[in-house]
Amino acid sequence: MSTELKEEIRARCAEAATGAAAGCGCSGEDCCEENGCCGDAGPGAFGAALYDLELQGELPEAALLASLGCGNPTAVAELREGEVVLDLGSGGGIDVLLSAKRVGPAGLAYGVDMTDEMLDLARRNATEAGVTNAHFLKGEIESIPLPAESVDVVISNCVVNLSTDKPAVLREIARVLRPGGRVGISDVVAEDRLSPDERAERGSYVGCIAGALSKGEYENGLRDAGFSDVSVSFTHRVADGMHSAIVQAVKPS
Ligand SMILES: C[S@@+](CC[C@H](N)C(=O)[O-])C[C@H]1O[C@@H](n2cnc3c(N)ncnc32)[C@H](O)[C@@H]1O
Repeated sequence: MSTELKEEIRARCAEAATGAAAGCGCSGEDCCEENGCCGDAGPGAFGAALYDLELQGELPEAALLASLGCGNPTAVAELREGEVVLDLGSGGGIDVLLSAKRVGPAGLAYGVDMTDEMLDLARRNATEAGVTNAHFLKGEIESIPLPAESVDVVISNCVVNLSTDKPAVLREIARVLRPGGRVGISDVVAEDRLSPDERAERGSYVGCIAGALSKGEYENGLRDAGFSDVSVSFTHRVADGMHSAIVQAVKPS
């Protein structure tokens, strides 16, 4: 079942990448719902409109069109010059490109994604943006293709909810982070009152709704994986009792 679901997610995200490459994205009154791999909440809840205009101005049009996230994790991660950043489920590359610019030539930004079409799009967007310190790796976020303690900051934008093994994702984040490293994730999160069935009534798994953790489940999952300073804060509503949220945590030194 989980393999079938992962293949469905991969196929839907491949369609989204092909759509973005053809000029079709999530921002405004365009073709988000037909082409997005997170589109169940409709225009405005997902996509490039969630980035302020100054940041949008730093990126090529194709990278903005490919944005399928539910927030701006680079805004909360407080990236510094020289740091190594990893974006889980990097899609068309928007957060990797912004991170690469923040950490500068002495730093590095990695994106990991399982969908070839997304990796191709992200690499084209990096070339168009003239960014040379960004690297896109093929892999699954449940088994991150990077060594232990090699990353300062892990970010992600609307992807953890899509994972069929969230404890593995949180364990992998803890493994690749250096001691003292931090997490800044945007994700869809449910209020604790909603059961998994009630979440599924509000939208599909591939639409980034049914697979969402609740606030309490996220906080406990991060603590179980060894994180401290855990917080999950709702930012905007995506469905009844479901929100985009900023998820933060620190790997103890
Ligand atoms: C909703 S899109 C978000 C893309 C990007 N973070 C953004 O903000 O535009 C989800 C992305 O995560 C990738 N993805 C989903 N599940 C994954 C997994 N288990 N391992 C690796 N990549 C995954 C998909 O291929 C897709 O590119």
